Amino acid sequence: MEGIRVLVIDDEEAQRGLIAGFFKKQGLEVAAAEGGSQGLERLQKEPFDLVLVDYRMPGISGLEVLREVKRVNPEIPVIVMTAYGTIETAVQAMKEGAYDYLTKPVDLDDLWHRIERARERQWLLAENRELKERLQERYHFDQIIGESGKMQEVLALVHRVSNSGATVLIRGESGTGKELIAKAIHYNSPRAEGPFIKVNCAALPENLLESELFGHEKGAFTGAVSSRIGRFEAADKGTIFLDEIGDLSPSLQVKLLRVLQEREFERLGSNRTIKVDVRIIAATNRDLEAVVRGGRFREDLYYRLNVVPISIPPLRERREDLPPLMDHFLTKLSLENRKTITGLTREARDALMRYEYPGNVRELENILERAVVLARSETIGLSDLPISLQEPKAGEETEKSLPSLLEGIERRMIVEALQKSQGVQTKAAELLGISERMLRYKLKKYGI
Ligand SMILES: Nc1ncnc2c1ncn2[C@@H]1O[C@H](COP(=O)(O)OP(=O)(O)OP(=O)(O)O)[C@@H](O)[C@H]1O
Ligand SMILES: [Mg+2]
Repeated sequence: MEGIRVLVIDDEEAQRGLIAGFFKKQGLEVAAAEGGSQGLERLQKEPFDLVLVDYRMPGISGLEVLREVKRVNPEIPVIVMTAYGTIETAVQAMKEGAYDYLTKPVDLDDLWHRIERARERQWLLAENRELKERLQERYHFDQIIGESGKMQEVLALVHRVSNSGATVLIRGESGTGKELIAKAIHYNSPRAEGPFIKVNCAALPENLLESELFGHEKGAFTGAVSSRIGRFEAADKGTIFLDEIGDLSPSLQVKLLRVLQEREFERLGSNRTIKVDVRIIAATNRDLEAVVRGGRFREDLYYRLNVVPISIPPLRERREDLPPLMDHFLTKLSLENRKTITGLTREARDALMRYEYPGNVRELENILERAVVLARSETIGLSDLPISLQEPKAGEETEKSLPSLLEGIERRMIVEALQKSQGVQTKAAELLGISERMLRYKLKKYGI
């Protein structure tokens, strides 16, 4: 088992030393961590093929480590060690996706036996490491921020669908992260080593798009001076991402239907049939059902594409994601722009929290990028944000419902009162004519 890297996480030094020493003798590469947080830190930095973790540790528990490993890379087998006689904990660990469990004191022969079994089942493939490494830094789920319940559901679905080869249709308004999700599916799938090819179906006129998708032979049309392979061929053994699928012309819809059904097509100007092994992920920001009803999109194609629908909710419907997204982008953007931005002023944060984001996550990212570039100090202030965010627009609430209108007013009044009272809550409550307790409740409610 050369080249297999194991991480042992246990707070008991003697136990850790015993297991690590045993593994080394068996020819494995071993790293040891004395607690959950150190363990997770190492996991973020280095790839491992197997994790052995103690269930009971102060601070971050073995179960939390397990969850995090599963979240970041579900492919890594985790063996959990539990104290003798605590079968419930073992059951729970298995439920949460542990590969196996051991009771303490650990029987080294038994442990070795289980590891060999894991290897036989091809769980431990050293060749996969490079791949794991690449995945870890790139489209791993930790790059996708989504703490809200709605996004958690989306991410759980992404996890489940990644391992299958099922066709996926991703729905969502512009800028909600459709492409990000498509990549996450590909790079977490068995096809991860194959290509991820993106085609925007709205970007090209019909005849160009056709040759782009299916390729053409020399002389197939004026200007086809040499033959060229299409995106479907390029995506063989990988994934093709068909963006803006709702804009596909009727004749291309027919051709795509055939690819979906038979996985075959011909290049333009050729009658040789080409077979490909591709996974198809499509995306649209349109109401595709309405387009079908309107007769502009084939119903049979719709059903073929809509095998697993994934809908990404607009950002304004998951405001809990705003604070972690802001932190994520600020860190990323300050690095990219070589600036040290430590945070936002309260006013700037409030303005960002209250905005509606018609352009969703991309708009937030753009706003913050501009702010990072503009900021003259380490904190981003209100004046670094676009004017439209700096003051709530009059009349913006015209098409909203009465309760949300009232909430908007309430929120704004609270923010104003806090500004006037320089953050002193007793004073702000007094200004607003409500109790301090009520104010605290509302602050929490609106995430101020
Ligand atoms: N949940 C998220 N966590 C982190 N970054 C995100 C998230 N969602 C979107 N982004 C970022 O926002 C930007 C827009 O995302 P993406 O291009 O995937 O959106 P889209 O839905 O394909 O947009 P469009 O419909 O305009 O093509 C990207 O830079 C992406 O990395
Ligand atoms: Mg996109």
